[in-house]
Amino acid sequence: MMRRFAALLALMLTAGCAAEPVTAQATLDGQPPIVIAHRGASGERPEHTIAAYKLAIELGADYIEPDLVLTKDGTLVARHENEISETTDVANRPEFADRKTSKTIDGQKVTGWFTEDFTLAELKTLRARERLPKLRSTDYDGQYEIPTFEEILTFLAEANKGRERPVGVYPETKHPAYFASIGLPHEGPLLAMLDRFGYRGRAAPVFIQSFEVGNLKALRAKSDLPLIQLMDGEGGPADTPGTSYAAMAAPAGLTAIAAYADGIGPYKEMVIPRGALGRLGDPTNLVRDAHAAGLKVHPWTFRRENYFLPLGDKGGINPAGHGDLAAEIDAYLKTGIDGLFSDNPREAVAAAKTRAGG
Ligand code: G3P
Ligand code: CA
Repeated sequence: MMRRFAALLALMLTAGCAAEPVTAQATLDGQPPIVIAHRGASGERPEHTIAAYKLAIELGADYIEPDLVLTKDGTLVARHENEISETTDVANRPEFADRKTSKTIDGQKVTGWFTEDFTLAELKTLRARERLPKLRSTDYDGQYEIPTFEEILTFLAEANKGRERPVGVYPETKHPAYFASIGLPHEGPLLAMLDRFGYRGRAAPVFIQSFEVGNLKALRAKSDLPLIQLMDGEGGPADTPGTSYAAMAAPAGLTAIAAYADGIGPYKEMVIPRGALGRLGDPTNLVRDAHAAGLKVHPWTFRRENYFLPLGDKGGINPAGHGDLAAEIDAYLKTGIDGLFSDNPREAVAAAKTRAGG
């Protein structure tokens, strides 16, 4: 907590402290902001399942977001992290009990079950479950498989048939330096799959995102697909020791990012920090500075539960209750952000349309 506060303080100082109160600012290209369904409509279905992506599209999301890790046999699958005990039933499967192990991933010791220790056929026997059972329904636990990236793109191509505005895909490479270090790099399978489905020919919109730097630069060398440099509110890229996200968010850092990427995906409090009581404060200059460098800004993650909302937008004291997500999103849209990640496209799409006057 203190580390995050210190990092945000550093960001505010390097970014020139708080800007003037905003009248609504424009997006970089003047187009309406996009709504990215974060891990699908993950506020209403278990994250990273075809059911979550399907609901996101039905609710009007512009993009669906799969986080990608690899199996032992080199297949890209959608999971937020390679350790899968929080989002699947693997811990209850006696046949996989001996796969439990400890590893160091990006400098952190992690204990559990890891996708890279399972073949795709083995992973397919698992079933997804809700990550946040204290805040969200578990009614859908046990129903859905872990989807491959190929299955997601197949599903999306079918869903886009006949649509005037195709829904895009916004894949994130998870732990790419770690996966490269064990002989399972993301870049080749990712680009091959996007090629196969026509994304280089712009079959539908796409952004590729990563918290790390090296894989984005490698992707830029091989492709002109739009790239997003993610930033957390603390620390720095796992593959670039000595570099902080706070420094990357300062004007010189943004200029450097613009040499290999098309936008940034910052932790949302880098755009609007919260005050001591958790109320939204004044925006920083990050959106203005990123736009000046020619970079789009897609902050994360907007969620409707009171647990996540700023003071002032909460709808009561029950952490699982729903508050005024639209109000939080509207404050961000006024800063000129070019899009946002939300677990709740139902509310996020409505908020974006309202601000656009639609
Ligand atoms: O990719 C944007 C946002 O999803 C980053 O956070 O940890 O949810 O992948 P995470
Ligand atoms: Ca993500």
